[in-house]
Amino acid sequence: MIVLGSTSEVAQAFVEKALQEGEKFEKIYLFTSNKETTERFARHIDVKFLQQSEVIELDLLKEIDYNAFDTIQSNLLFCATGYLGEGTEEGLYDNKNTDRIIDINYSKLVPVINYFAQKFESRRSGTIIGLSSVAGDRGRQSNFIYGSAKAAFTAYLSGLRNYLFDKKVHVLTIKPGFMATKMTEGLPLNPKLTATPKQAADCIYKAYKKQKDVAYVLPVWGVIMMIIRNIPEFIFKKLKL
Ligand SMILES: NC(=O)c1ccc[n+]([C@@H]2O[C@H](COP(=O)([O-])OP(=O)(O)OC[C@H]3O[C@@H](n4cnc5c(N)ncnc54)[C@H](OP(=O)(O)O)[C@@H]3O)[C@@H](O)[C@H]2O)c1
Repeated sequence: MIVLGSTSEVAQAFVEKALQEGEKFEKIYLFTSNKETTERFARHIDVKFLQQSEVIELDLLKEIDYNAFDTIQSNLLFCATGYLGEGTEEGLYDNKNTDRIIDINYSKLVPVINYFAQKFESRRSGTIIGLSSVAGDRGRQSNFIYGSAKAAFTAYLSGLRNYLFDKKVHVLTIKPGFMATKMTEGLPLNPKLTATPKQAADCIYKAYKKQKDVAYVLPVWGVIMMIIRNIPEFIFKKLKL
């Protein structure tokens, strides 16, 4: 199994869920921009599940040496990589913030997924799970740079799913609403609409086993976003969302 964004609590909860469910992985490749924290998680799964793992440095904002990934073979890729950045109030016209959001959520991430997608394609098997966001379903004034990067990522996953369908590779798009993780620390989230990392992982694992194409975390977000998507633009543009 390949994990991108390994310090994400959702990624870690998903790895644990899969191992608890008895999934077998020759090795778990934990890609991370934070080796020290990820080494701790690697030791944890090595001890708890006797699972062989390897921590691999991957900072999307630095140059990537793809030769170092040559020998990696896997059947499952879980991508939790993402970056919220500053919202529009603070960061809209800050180009550094804008670049970073677009790079981490989309432009530097897609080539990495493509690299592994190609390997899956040549083996004609595997599943790619990508965590996008409800923020990509409709641009809102509070965080539309992040939302637009996630919209692009959602469209990428949709196209990749279509392209890989007859190559026997499945692509699952996950659209979380709110999740209580380090990304949202300190934000005033409605607890009824907020998933814990464990709830999110359970939801994602279920969708993975059912070979779903798109799944919301929590499912209520599917209903919320259906309503939001259908608000006519002449009303939507006046809302403070
Ligand atoms: N939390 C929410 O409410 C929420 C809602 C909707 C969607 N999402 C999406 O769900 C996914 C998981 O998010 P999370 O809540 O678990 O947040 P998180 O803890 O911040 O996880 C995102 C991960 O992205 C990786 N990352 C960040 N900058 C990177 C860089 N420069 N290079 C490589 N990797 C980098 C980090 O992993 P490493 O430290 O291991 O590199 C980080 O742990 C993300 O895609 C996020 O956008 C979250």
